[in-house]
Amino acid sequence: MAVTYAFDVYGTLIDTNDIQEALVSLVGDNAPLLMDAWRSKQLEYSFRRGLMNRHIDFSVCTRQALIYCCQYYNIILTEAEENRIMEAYQSLPIFPEVAEVLRDLKEKDIPFYAFSNGSSSAVKHLLEQAGILDLFTGIVSTEAVQNFKPSPLVYEYFLKVTNTPLPDACLVSGNSFDILGAKSAGLKTVWIKRNAHQFFDPWGTAPDRVIQALGELQGFLASEMVTK
Ligand code: 2OP
Repeated sequence: MAVTYAFDVYGTLIDTNDIQEALVSLVGDNAPLLMDAWRSKQLEYSFRRGLMNRHIDFSVCTRQALIYCCQYYNIILTEAEENRIMEAYQSLPIFPEVAEVLRDLKEKDIPFYAFSNGSSSAVKHLLEQAGILDLFTGIVSTEAVQNFKPSPLVYEYFLKVTNTPLPDACLVSGNSFDILGAKSAGLKTVWIKRNAHQFFDPWGTAPDRVIQALGELQGFLASEMVTK
């Protein structure tokens, strides 16, 4: 049995920490603090909207979270700077090892999708500018079910739209909330723990595999994921 991989995008394929550079001109040495607060608030907005059944394009969660965090930290954010930072966010780079690993999976005819809260167009743009769009079997955006991760609806939608039987589906993500959501929905899960200060939520549920970089995915064939 072959596995079908669902690759999370922001923080998994795309290095969201790279936005720090665009924040330095705004807040200098406080860029890492603002970046972390912004990411947390962005995700909080998506969680809230999911619970409220008030879906909106993920880029609006991103923009509104940036505005909130600048207000909270008393940072003057002009419209021009807001737009400059949002443009930078829409063009974030992939992690260094991503292209090679995905090429290898494609050569092995292993199906894999970009699976994201981000809109199909936003994800397409990110993958296109990284030169890896043509490697993917497809893009699955949660916008299709007007919801966000970790709602079970989005994982169920992934299985349906990719015609993947549950035992064959494996989510690869650097975000523990996504791993927990996918595991709760019954998918196999691979958590990428890229640095020492990333921690998994103490929920008593562990990912099926933990890797430090996407390259370790080549360490075991997809079939192992299914039988494990
Ligand atoms: C995603 O790409 C937000 O990382 C999350 O869906």
